[in-house]
Amino acid sequence: MENIKYRAFIVEETSDKNFSHAVKEANTDDLPQGEVLIRVKYSSLNYKDALSASGNKGVTRNYPHTPGIDAAGIVEESQVQAFKKGDFVIVTSYDLGMNTSGGFGQYIRVPADWVVPLPKGLSLEQSMILGTAGFTAAMSVERLICGVTPAQGPILVTGATGGVGSLACAILVKLGYTVDAISGKPNTGFLEGLGVKHVIARDSFLEKTSAPILKPRWAGVIDTVGGDILATSIKSTDASGIVTCCGNVASPNLPINVFPFILRGVSLIGIDSQHCPMPLRQTLWEHLSTDWKPARLESMVTRVDLEKIGTRIEQILKGQLRGRTLVDMG
Ligand SMILES: NC(=O)c1ccc[n+]([C@@H]2O[C@H](COP(=O)([O-])OP(=O)(O)OC[C@H]3O[C@@H](n4cnc5c(N)ncnc54)[C@H](OP(=O)(O)O)[C@@H]3O)[C@@H](O)[C@H]2O)c1
Repeated sequence: MENIKYRAFIVEETSDKNFSHAVKEANTDDLPQGEVLIRVKYSSLNYKDALSASGNKGVTRNYPHTPGIDAAGIVEESQVQAFKKGDFVIVTSYDLGMNTSGGFGQYIRVPADWVVPLPKGLSLEQSMILGTAGFTAAMSVERLICGVTPAQGPILVTGATGGVGSLACAILVKLGYTVDAISGKPNTGFLEGLGVKHVIARDSFLEKTSAPILKPRWAGVIDTVGGDILATSIKSTDASGIVTCCGNVASPNLPINVFPFILRGVSLIGIDSQHCPMPLRQTLWEHLSTDWKPARLESMVTRVDLEKIGTRIEQILKGQLRGRTLVDMG
């Protein structure tokens, strides 16, 4: 196929080991090998994109690089029967946007087994309001509801105004759970608007005690931040409760001992959306497009174009964003 010129948000490493970014022209000839070339219509901003865009070598080894772990668009060219030109598709996680040119470019080329057909109940735009954050929230919910019913008590969500947190709140509310949420931001009614019952200020949540176990308050927890907040959440989980853990924006450490696990039978479940097997991936996207689809998806989104991503990246790194950032690729 002939080379196509397109626009991309490109991050470069400067000679003094700093990182700069700009929207520049790129060429499909320079994209990596792969069976499916996709014209990206929408992407979204996730915390990992901000790490990639700011030179975190644990996420992206080599620069220049185009971040964007999420992309939704239209197949331009396919070397496999499963996809044909014109199909609407989603690609999230795997290596997209990490060491493979990502969704902040108007074209991506990826292996066919990374590509998910867009479910009927979602538009391309809605699929990226959800994006990796929504998918990770869905994975967390799926693990939690295996062992905890709404009747067992409220569920706590941490980092609640963030992408994963806010979508986890919205999905749990839709499934009939009572949801409490921890947030470090001033309360603006955003979380109550999603159906959250009690919003707990982050500062007031952290117990100053070294007690190994605390009064049980929640039947389950969806944690997105790690550190002391995750430790206090686990200590405050009721008998046979389930706690999921997917992120480390507060800290990668977990200062806790075994008592909540051996005295209350609490389960701690790690969530890794990157390596989610394709059958579960498709099942979760199906749920997200039907019975788990958040009621007020459009109320959770801020829309930006490629030129505005830089500002949003600075804000997400400071933990300042509420809900999701949709990137309209034009
Ligand atoms: N394992 C996986 O597969 C997977 C997939 C997606 C994301 N993640 C991880 O999950 C985490 C959340 O991702 P995201 O996209 O939802 O990010 P996000 O939109 O930036 O949300 C993170 C939220 O955490 C809270 N927060 C920020 N700094 C904090 C701090 N120092 N202490 C406590 N809370 C803090 C803030 O919410 P409040 O102000 O409301 O407290 C913030 O909005 C990240 O660590 C990300 O890398 C993992």
